[in-house]
Amino acid sequence: MVSEARPDEGGTAAPRRQRPSADRIALRGDLRSALPDASAAVVLTGAVFAFLYVRMDSGDSATVAVMPFMDDPSTYWMYLLSQAFGWSGLLWAWGTVMLGLLLSGPRPARLPVSRQVLERWHRTTSLTTTALMFAHALMFAAELVRYETNLAWAERLWAGFADTFVPGWYDSGTGRIAIPLGQGALYLAVPLGLLFYVRHRIGANTWRRLHRFVIVVYVLSVWHTLLYGTNVWYGEWPRTLLWLLQLPVAVLLLLRLLRPARRAERLDAPGGRAGVAWPVWSARAAGRIAVGAVVVGLVVVAASGRDGGRDRPAEPPVTVPHARETE
Ligand code: HEM
Repeated sequence: MVSEARPDEGGTAAPRRQRPSADRIALRGDLRSALPDASAAVVLTGAVFAFLYVRMDSGDSATVAVMPFMDDPSTYWMYLLSQAFGWSGLLWAWGTVMLGLLLSGPRPARLPVSRQVLERWHRTTSLTTTALMFAHALMFAAELVRYETNLAWAERLWAGFADTFVPGWYDSGTGRIAIPLGQGALYLAVPLGLLFYVRHRIGANTWRRLHRFVIVVYVLSVWHTLLYGTNVWYGEWPRTLLWLLQLPVAVLLLLRLLRPARRAERLDAPGGRAGVAWPVWSARAAGRIAVGAVVVGLVVVAASGRDGGRDRPAEPPVTVPHARETE
């Protein structure tokens, strides 16, 4: 809940600039409110980590099938933790996007909780999502630092940082595309999420226009995962489930575009008294058609099973997504 500003304890003499702004108070309030869902996310991350650890230990891990040198969970635990944060981050991103679409699309006849509560959940889960994405990247960097034992400490730290956070630096296998996609999602999530807390300064309309692009963060995250996640590398049930989870998001996005909560965003006839100019109308119509095509595409992928997953080979593959020498 956004907390109220504290009355000025210093009386009229207190200088104005020392008072925290309403934006800062709102951010602090939301960070405090995010504690319960952030804790739930940490618990879930722990459970996913344990699951991945046990699977690696037992030899069932898809990650080890893709990269056979990783067959020791006690050595590669930071990599597993990075994967676990990736999954909780993606799940939280899914949840916060669904909440956002519920709020900006056609009003459901009945909601289990009030709109204010939904809005607060949307804000807190979005803060948690960004933290989880960052933790995922950070654990990957930590694993790279641990791995590069042949380098001096400064070089190890730099290698881990640059491969993880500098776009275009990672130069191996599928990661040349997949890592920048993940970085794009992370680097867009921060401003697009936090702009809410400066909306009084930039104007509510500017904020609303920019915030819309947050869907790009989600699309990049899913694309990054489908391209790079070794636990969804093969055409097995985890990959199918990941595709299926995108169906409700695409349907809600389509509904939100067809019947937006805000009247001004509706697709009325172009050019008329209340209508918009032709180029804007055409862009909006094209967007709705594109999302409709995505919904159809997702159904086709799920029904046909042609989801880009590879067949699990009997022998280790010759090419791997992020090639490294066997230790
Ligand atoms: C700086 C940005 C990022 C970097 C360097 C990065 C790095 C990686 C790497 C190296 C993998 C492969 C792990 C594997 O072997 O499976 C991966 C997978 C994954 N990433 Fe990212 N990522 C970034 C951003 C993101 C974002 C923003 C999300 C969204 C939540 C995300 C979610 C995932 C998921 C769910 C997986 C699959 C893990 C698995 O298969 O178990 N990543 N990422």
